[in-house]
Amino acid sequence: MAAETGTETESAHLRRALELAEGGRGRVSPNPLVGAVIVSPSGEVIGEGFHAELGDLHAERAALRDCRERGVDPTGATLFVTLEPCAHSGRQPPCSEALLEAGVARVVYASEDPTGKASGRGPGILRDGGVDVELARGPEASAARLLNQPFRKLARTGRPLVTYKAAMTLDGRVAAPGGDSRWISSAESRELVHRRRGECDAIAVGIGTVLADDPLLTARPERGEGRNPLRVVFDTRARLPLDSALIGSLEEAPVLVVCSGEAPTAARSALERAGAELLVAPGGDPASRLAAALDELGRRELGDLLLEGGPTLAGALFDAGEIDRMQLFVAPVLLGAEGARAVLEGKGAKRIAEGGRPLAVEHRSVGEDLLIDARLREW
Ligand SMILES: NC(=O)c1ccc[n+]([C@@H]2O[C@H](COP(=O)([O-])OP(=O)(O)OC[C@H]3O[C@@H](n4cnc5c(N)ncnc54)[C@H](OP(=O)(O)O)[C@@H]3O)[C@@H](O)[C@H]2O)c1
Repeated sequence: MAAETGTETESAHLRRALELAEGGRGRVSPNPLVGAVIVSPSGEVIGEGFHAELGDLHAERAALRDCRERGVDPTGATLFVTLEPCAHSGRQPPCSEALLEAGVARVVYASEDPTGKASGRGPGILRDGGVDVELARGPEASAARLLNQPFRKLARTGRPLVTYKAAMTLDGRVAAPGGDSRWISSAESRELVHRRRGECDAIAVGIGTVLADDPLLTARPERGEGRNPLRVVFDTRARLPLDSALIGSLEEAPVLVVCSGEAPTAARSALERAGAELLVAPGGDPASRLAAALDELGRRELGDLLLEGGPTLAGALFDAGEIDRMQLFVAPVLLGAEGARAVLEGKGAKRIAEGGRPLAVEHRSVGEDLLIDARLREW
């Protein structure tokens, strides 16, 4: 019996490949998350794999290795994979080559690779080699694109995907009038944030948040390990205090201070001597400095940027059209105070009809909070 095509069975293989891809989360950046399933001509799953570590085997080769370990020959098999197979040599040799050598007859991939060196070359090489190649459509294709939004935005724009995460009260405030914000959200929400920190490439805050909260911004999940990302402070005048928790924890994670050329030399040198890295962002206005800083993070292949506030910096990024996703933890607390801080304090829209509308909004409970996940852009 031949493997079914374009059927529920085929969708199930792609869903399994998507599930496998998750195994690399937080460990493969700047590479994409990729999962693969190999199905024999009789419809049996004979190999599974995923890209597990940066520099390690790609999903396709991992699945072929699984076939070998099971003692099964993949000749004539179908490969279901979440991303188009690559044709270039990077940290690993090209997957298209391995698939041709293995005699795979058909490849179904769920999303294209937008990087310049890929862009359909792998599927082209496979077709030339006589392989039947198909790009899947439907919900699995959409899930495959969503799986790698940081990778896709970085490939298309050279800038990181920005996710703004904030904890807010039921009346939409992220801090009391005096600046106090600890703790708006529940312990369960904070645990989720610590895990998310361990998966992203960089965390950004404005100097206002550092001066108000003196945060550590390291990944400290109760369960599992946290890999610490780069901590980025937008600090035009290099005001970051030398006795701040950020500077005090440089052995745990690096700190990049984004300042302007007008920041006092003495302050810049003191921060550098303390071990922080200074990025003098070119441009006379905050918007161009913001753009220059995002470009620099992109050059460093930091694709997944978690923005942790505050409302001034988030407002500036929102106005610049750079916030791609918002994750808002809404806690059952009411402040009701004039002067309490809003989630976004940029220029924004002046009329409701001009307000931005997310592409999709999902929500779920986390402890006593409601987590609202809004996707503003898709790449
Ligand atoms: N509930 C939450 O989830 C949450 C999260 C974070 C913060 N907060 C609260 O928010 C409050 C702090 O917010 P905030 O708005 O005062 O501070 P912020 O947004 O963290 O920092 C704002 C500062 O960043 C600097 N900056 C550097 N480059 C910038 C640019 N391109 N655009 C805009 N700003 C830039 C500016 O100061 P310079 O010009 O001096 O550089 C600006 O004043 C605190 O009360 C904190 O507790 C709450």
